[in-house]
Amino acid sequence: MGTRAVLHRGPKTDQIERYTPAERIAHWLTAGTYVYAMATGLGFFTPYMYWLVEIVGGGPTARFWHPIIGLGYVFTNVYLHHQWKSDLKLIPEDRVWLDKVKYYITNEDDLLPEQDRFDAGQKLFYWGMLYCAVILLVTGVVMWFPESIGRSWHWVLPLVVIIHSAAALITIGGLIIHVYMGVFMVPGSVKAMTIGYVSRGWAILHAPLWYKKVANGRTVK
Ligand code: HEM
Repeated sequence: MGTRAVLHRGPKTDQIERYTPAERIAHWLTAGTYVYAMATGLGFFTPYMYWLVEIVGGGPTARFWHPIIGLGYVFTNVYLHHQWKSDLKLIPEDRVWLDKVKYYITNEDDLLPEQDRFDAGQKLFYWGMLYCAVILLVTGVVMWFPESIGRSWHWVLPLVVIIHSAAALITIGGLIIHVYMGVFMVPGSVKAMTIGYVSRGWAILHAPLWYKKVANGRTVK
């Protein structure tokens, strides 16, 4: 779909649409399905986390829904990909941003190349989650129907379990950073993902190239 944004000027608004309703629905469906699959998966992974499984109705219920909602997560991820793929494509400037990422950490953003709708860190998070979703899907389906594997191939099952768990742990690490950045480090982001809009100042500070594209009040592709 590419970048679509509109600058609304008016008495109450000097707000830029950052996420369309479809994008927000896709994002929160992805988040909801992910959190359910992650919580129940953690409960299966270690007895210390089994209380998470009890919250959602106990072992058999969680075992039934985990793969189905996990599949839902993959589908919503594909929907998200369909909406954002062009905005999240890595471009050569992203390498420069990543080489200078220490300035992002020290809050010296003026020493970084200007970023488009998403910065290189957000893009890496996105692609990491997507590749892990593919790994979780393939390994998850094998674990869902173990009887479909021929006897001579049963030795792969423990490997599949390890790969599935490793991919899940990577996504958990990524999500902790994602939520921390969105909720605590970049004020205005949660509003962007709930109401859909950011202020002009937010856009200039966090996504200056994107701001320049939308600043004329045009809808751009
Ligand atoms: C579960 C709790 C989650 C919360 C609280 C959350 C919060 C947010 C917020 C506030 C933004 C807006 C950031 C901005 O505009 O700069 C955002 C964007 C985004 N979210 Fe989430 N999110 C969650 C889960 C997920 C999951 C599971 C994925 C999986 C793919 C995901 C993928 C993305 C992507 C790709 C973006 C756009 C780029 C970025 O900001 O990283 N989110 N999220």
